[in-house]
Amino acid sequence: MAVEKKTEKKTLIFNAHLVDKQTDADGAILISGGLIEAVFLGDYTAEEKARALAPDAELFNAEGRTLMPSFIDMHVHFRYPGQTQKEDLDTGLASAAAGGFGTVVLMPNTLPVVSSAQLAAQIKAEAESRGLCEVFQTMSLTRDFSGKDTTHLDDIDSEKIPVITEDGRDVASAAVMREAMEKAAQNGVIVSCHSEDVALAQAAKPYRAEALALRKRGGAEGAEIEEKIDENLRQANALLALAEDTATERNIEIARSAGCRVHIAHCSTARSIDAVRRAKAEGMTVTAEVTPHHFALTADSREGLRAIVNPPLRSEDDRRALIEALRDGTADVISTDHAPHTAADKESGSPGFVGLETAFAAANTVLVKEACFSLSKVSALMSANPAEILGLNKGLLRPSLRADLVLVDEDEAWTVHGADGKSKGKATVFEGKTLTGKVHATWFGGRLVFRG
Ligand code: DOR
Ligand code: ZN
Repeated sequence: MAVEKKTEKKTLIFNAHLVDKQTDADGAILISGGLIEAVFLGDYTAEEKARALAPDAELFNAEGRTLMPSFIDMHVHFRYPGQTQKEDLDTGLASAAAGGFGTVVLMPNTLPVVSSAQLAAQIKAEAESRGLCEVFQTMSLTRDFSGKDTTHLDDIDSEKIPVITEDGRDVASAAVMREAMEKAAQNGVIVSCHSEDVALAQAAKPYRAEALALRKRGGAEGAEIEEKIDENLRQANALLALAEDTATERNIEIARSAGCRVHIAHCSTARSIDAVRRAKAEGMTVTAEVTPHHFALTADSREGLRAIVNPPLRSEDDRRALIEALRDGTADVISTDHAPHTAADKESGSPGFVGLETAFAAANTVLVKEACFSLSKVSALMSANPAEILGLNKGLLRPSLRADLVLVDEDEAWTVHGADGKSKGKATVFEGKTLTGKVHATWFGGRLVFRG
């Protein structure tokens, strides 16, 4: 658990609309000792009426905005240790708080790679000492991403390391993956899979490199070069779609054989999410995540095609399939894959972009406003479901749970400018886009950690 910062003073958040997986009603919430002490349903618009609920509490007027459980992100890169030019714990955590997140699961593709419980514990302790967010640090599937050695998993403790992953790449050898998954199964650890056939991903690289080289050349040849860049990226993306489709099937089959709990990270194609759907129908313990960029955007536009990320943005058919999977429960959670890079690294083709501060707005815009999901459903996808997968007693507005809360305006439109974000990574795929839904305040353990 995170370091508890006990707040002695009680706070009553009144004049709020309360939304979680099971609730959608006006009300007020009383916070005490870092926990939710009480949830009051009813009209508490008036300060007088609210004050009567808890005469000794400090009042916070939500001004009719929506109070939800903080979001939980199962897929975040904070780049610590070793790549703090891209992000560090302070900027990453500030970005999480500004995005309304109270729990993050950190990926192990750092320098060094996180391959020991000791290093994972150190990172967790250091991050949680800031008192902004609960943090889980994953460990790699193979030691130092060697692709071979899994001895570091021999007595892994799921209480400390609930999730292991090779994120950023896949494990090339099915036999080694099976070994890692068997150890995970023995110890009750979830294996999160970056499903991407290694050889096919390798085959895609020259096309991306050529596109990059052409872009750097630019100049006089104009339109012809632009078309060549696009064609190279289309080739790369076709290979990367096959890489994901085959690897998702493979990883699910190995997990079935090993009997482990498998989580399919950043599922991005219609075929791979359908593999998850089939496995679930067969009774397998498989869960899946979809990122905001994959359900909101496509590579059908030139801008989308050129947004380098792994897995890449896909077609409109894929995007629609992901939304239907989120709707029908095939996809369990929304994860950001927050992947900050320096401007220079983005220039030279590093995949990924920041996502924590736009996740709620993207979900609200695309899923609620366009695809007619309820906000309760979005709360399930961003809070209750990831909590359940990780075995955390959180993600709902319920007395005795820790007061990790986020106050949002469901109808406020704003235009995304990466430069204004808290993250060191300034590249966002939503740059210049107007989204609806804004985070106004975040509480962690009852303490206000963001006000916007
Ligand atoms: O786009 C991506 N960026 N995909 C990944 O899988 C890794 C991530 C990163 O670490 O930059
Ligand atoms: Zn990944």
